[in-house]
Amino acid sequence: MATNLLILGGTTEATALGAAVASAGLSGTVSFAGRVERPKRQPLPQRVGGFGGVEGLRTYLRDNDITHVVDATHPFAAQMSSNAVRACAAENVPLIALTRAPWRAQAGDNWTHVPDIADAVAALDRTAARVMLAVGRMHLDDFAPNPQHFYLLRLVDAPSTPPAFPEHHVLVSRGPFTAQDDLALMRDHRIDLVVSKNAGGTGAYAKVEAARALGLPVIMIDRPTIADRATAFSVDDVMAWLSHDENRGV
Ligand SMILES: NC(=O)c1ccc[n+]([C@@H]2O[C@H](COP(=O)([O-])OP(=O)(O)OC[C@H]3O[C@@H](n4cnc5c(N)ncnc54)[C@H](OP(=O)(O)O)[C@@H]3O)[C@@H](O)[C@H]2O)c1
Repeated sequence: MATNLLILGGTTEATALGAAVASAGLSGTVSFAGRVERPKRQPLPQRVGGFGGVEGLRTYLRDNDITHVVDATHPFAAQMSSNAVRACAAENVPLIALTRAPWRAQAGDNWTHVPDIADAVAALDRTAARVMLAVGRMHLDDFAPNPQHFYLLRLVDAPSTPPAFPEHHVLVSRGPFTAQDDLALMRDHRIDLVVSKNAGGTGAYAKVEAARALGLPVIMIDRPTIADRATAFSVDDVMAWLSHDENRGV
């Protein structure tokens, strides 16, 4: 059967893979959750919206004769990733994750690791500070229990409702960002604490470098655990995997 790929997207890596797949003349679709108002234009056909859990994804795979799935979602999109593992196993469709290695603290970093958003919120139960909160739009309201802080929010889209804390400043920007710009931004807003997901990759790393340069503490939210699956760290590795008939991890 001719290759017909489903790319679970929402990341720079997914867009890069779509370009490689299109230029190789393979057929495929990039799927978005629909969280962002204007997703980046893709070189492949795209679809938007949830599949309806594991069962919905199974139906989609069958109805669309999908031969391979690449999970190129963000490392924190744990629900989608775990659904993909289960649906692909049930439908016997080869699956590979295209992901990024997590960031590791280096000399000069002052990180407190927390396992999830709830623990990041708990870590902010302290005297008022000026916080750069880089956790995305979906989780802002989780921080309502700590309204004493000023929050600098950088988001792809403006929040649809005002955040549940009074002191904040919203910057709408998609990135990628430079360490120099983030350093200036943190200075301008007199930031004294950064909250970040351990996204990995380069696009969001600038704030970590800027925090290091300024000697600021970072509350680093570790990645969720996702069930075992084949994993690639580059578009080339996924293309090599696709060029083999058998399901082979990289
Ligand atoms: N989490 C982050 O920090 C983050 C950052 C940047 C980009 N993103 C992107 O934003 C999207 C949503 O992230 P999330 O953390 O909300 O995910 P999630 O919690 O893992 O997913 C929740 C539900 O959203 C739907 N969904 C997620 N990704 C999808 C995709 N690519 N195509 C179709 N449906 C999708 C699925 O609905 P059904 O169960 O109905 O299929 C899934 O069960 C992901 O595609 C991710 O790559 C996330």
